Amino acid sequence: MTEALGTKLPAELDLVTLRKAYARWAPVYDLVFGALFDRGRRAAIAAAEQVGGRILEVGVGTGISLPGYCSHNRIVGIDLSEAMLRKAQRRVANLSLTNVEKLEVMDAEHLSFPDASFDVVVANHVISTVPNPEAALDECARMLRPGGEMILLSRIGADAGLRHLIEFLLQPIVRRLGWRTEFPWDRFARWTERQTDVRLIERRPMPPFGHFSLLRFVKCANGRKHDHRRPGAAAGSA
Ligand SMILES: C[S@@+](CC[C@H](N)C(=O)[O-])C[C@H]1O[C@@H](n2cnc3c(N)ncnc32)[C@H](O)[C@@H]1O
Repeated sequence: MTEALGTKLPAELDLVTLRKAYARWAPVYDLVFGALFDRGRRAAIAAAEQVGGRILEVGVGTGISLPGYCSHNRIVGIDLSEAMLRKAQRRVANLSLTNVEKLEVMDAEHLSFPDASFDVVVANHVISTVPNPEAALDECARMLRPGGEMILLSRIGADAGLRHLIEFLLQPIVRRLGWRTEFPWDRFARWTERQTDVRLIERRPMPPFGHFSLLRFVKCANGRKHDHRRPGAAAGSA
């Protein structure tokens, strides 16, 4: 039905639109989305801490999660938006967060770290905002050492019905805000299905509105999707 409706407005996200959107969000982001997504962020941090070690936060934004990590883990944050990262850098300095190894401007779809550089990859409210979510998922998975986990907080849109129609119709409008309304579970399901060495191990509904989920994926040894939690250590891990 959505295909039949069509639209003349662009619905897809691009890097220029995203940079502009998050430059506008940066000054007010924490105020608007701090408390709203707090429970999900705490759950994501707790899941990351269960594995621990060297943690990559993709789309770290204003660094709102950074104070939540234990001091013995090492955190690397990347984000497309310089304006958001400047807020994160200020937070790290103000709170003397010595566990933050570095913060860098980088595109989630083209991560410059070598394979298996991290024990955990966290991406909170990011995957549904990037132009090519599947490319970002591929990159996040590439970052993990065997046994490492990818932890995502994501909006999950409806697969069909009235809610899906509304999400589809809103998409050309909300893209300028820097995210997608239309992001059905099917996209994660199809990506997961294609993976030979990444397995979904948890999907937990998260507030607000029941439209969000915490997802946990584990990286198995090459081509061994059913070997869960094989031992290993990330390159550069303590
Ligand atoms: C909705 S905010 C989430 C920020 C933070 N993770 C949080 O939990 O609040 C999305 C973040 O993803 C970043 N982002 C969007 N597209 C990106 C990309 N292709 N590569 C890296 N970061 C990206 C944005 O700049 C923004 O900081």
